[in-house]
Amino acid sequence: MPAKKSASRKSAAPPERATVAQLISFAAEQFAIAGLWFGHGTDNAVDEAAELVFFAAGLRHDDADEVYGQVLKAPQRAKALELIERRIRERVPAAYLTHRMWFAGHEFYVDERVLVPRSPIAELIEAQFRPWIDPGKVQRILDIGTGSGCIAIAAALAFPEAKVDAADLSPDALAVTRKNIERHAVEQRVRAVQSDVFDGLKGERYDVIVSNPPYVGDEELAGLPEEYRREPVMGLHGGRDGLDIVHRILDQAAAHLQPHGILIVEVGNSEEALVEALPRMPFTWLDFERGGGGVFLLTRDQLVAKS
Ligand SMILES: C[S@@+](CC[C@H](N)C(=O)[O-])C[C@H]1O[C@@H](n2cnc3c(N)ncnc32)[C@H](O)[C@@H]1O
Repeated sequence: MPAKKSASRKSAAPPERATVAQLISFAAEQFAIAGLWFGHGTDNAVDEAAELVFFAAGLRHDDADEVYGQVLKAPQRAKALELIERRIRERVPAAYLTHRMWFAGHEFYVDERVLVPRSPIAELIEAQFRPWIDPGKVQRILDIGTGSGCIAIAAALAFPEAKVDAADLSPDALAVTRKNIERHAVEQRVRAVQSDVFDGLKGERYDVIVSNPPYVGDEELAGLPEEYRREPVMGLHGGRDGLDIVHRILDQAAAHLQPHGILIVEVGNSEEALVEALPRMPFTWLDFERGGGGVFLLTRDQLVAKS
């Protein structure tokens, strides 16, 4: 019962001289009592709590083993408790409180203008899209629906010679993309472009087109936990069955790919609906070591054969 839950939250407090480890377990316990949802970069209460405590205390996750027994100073403790309280009260993903998230090993600035980076596509970038394309042939990459720019910028860092277009329809999202482009000093190679899918990219051709577009359908959207409501709806909602943007990408991608080019698109839980809608499309559904799925790959040849 909610009233009881909030009463138990108020009465609970960590020890006055709490260590980092004690504060993390206190927070994780409170998160569990409050019934929070984890799916924005962490998938459990302890990791979410650790990120808030480490951030508040200015600690590095790489130093976790050494700092777990450390007692926090009063200002660090106060800041950690404030973030823990806000995480519960506002149901806001931790990344919007800390304004940071890691993707493919790189740190990105995030705020509520962009989705919290979490795509499994990170793994493909880390592998330079092997074995699906010869990395030596990758000179131009397009990321459709770039949001924070995490996919575009991580790809630029994985391919130091390549030029990358980071496209999004939302001017708000593109402001964040630009901030991250500057932060990672890739202004010479990554271009933030306002584009409605391919509309702003006439005549452009790429070796790799990658996209994590909005792909949540009406029904799934209505049932999403509160934390997702802090994200821009434009980053999530893909029309009635979630596939509006995905179909537009499929229809136009071949015209924007080099002959050896590949298209990689995340569709998450809309995988089944997509296969049902296009039963003859020879999708390759990719596997991920760190979890996640619903990501397909098609070569330009496959797209042309089906058009
Ligand atoms: C699921 S978010 C992905 C953000 C980022 N690529 C990531 O993986 O974290 C989808 C993005 O697509 C953008 N978007 C929505 N409709 C679009 C459209 N018609 N054309 C281009 N981008 C669009 C949204 O603004 C949002 O930033």
